[in-house]
Amino acid sequence: MTISQKNQNDILNLEKINTNEIEYIFSDNPVNRLQTKPQIEDKKKLLSELRHEIENINNCELKNNAKNLVFADGNSENKIMIIGEGPGQKEDEQGKPFVGDAGLLLNKMLAAIQIKRNNVYITNVVNYRPPNNRKPEPSEINRYSNFLRQHISIIDPKILILMGSTAMESLFGSKIKISKERGVWKELIIHNKTYLTMITFHPAYLLRQADQKKYSWADLKIIRKKIDELKISV
Ligand code: URA
Repeated sequence: MTISQKNQNDILNLEKINTNEIEYIFSDNPVNRLQTKPQIEDKKKLLSELRHEIENINNCELKNNAKNLVFADGNSENKIMIIGEGPGQKEDEQGKPFVGDAGLLLNKMLAAIQIKRNNVYITNVVNYRPPNNRKPEPSEINRYSNFLRQHISIIDPKILILMGSTAMESLFGSKIKISKERGVWKELIIHNKTYLTMITFHPAYLLRQADQKKYSWADLKIIRKKIDELKISV
């Protein structure tokens, strides 16, 4: 077959076959040779393209007032993805999510269910610090939710943890209340794919309302049970 006779699929398939390792081609195990899941390199490229898109956002009060973009932290290959609200002062200075007081509590919450923070993937609804740590406006939540949905599709988590009402609002809308929605598994559909999702309280809220920690602990135990059921390594 000459190049001109090949259709688009032939070319794509040939490219995929040519990038396979020899052990993979002669493996005894049945394998999907024409993989549909993004490979690690594809994922890194897609994440870097998304980062670039957010870096180039125009007419955004958040970006115009922030020092740094806060894109994400952790292991992009892990199957657990955590979403907070937005960077605070420390996060803005370091360009990393959850490194201030709320981050310290988040680390403890994860450790309580035997999750190492560096093993999971963490991002926020908005990627630039809102001026004076204000809550992001509905229009900002809406604008950034396009990026967030792309981010989730790229990471392709088995468990999505939404921390706080802003993360909940970004993906499920503003008509619902976190106190009613937390602690049960929900399904979030993005680009025809369903993501198992848990809404729970934000660590910054727990720092202000210590009496709510008992609900957070109940949610964390449900999450741990699912991690074990799905045999996710954390
Ligand atoms: N609160 C958030 O929601 N995200 C951070 O990164 C830090 C604090």
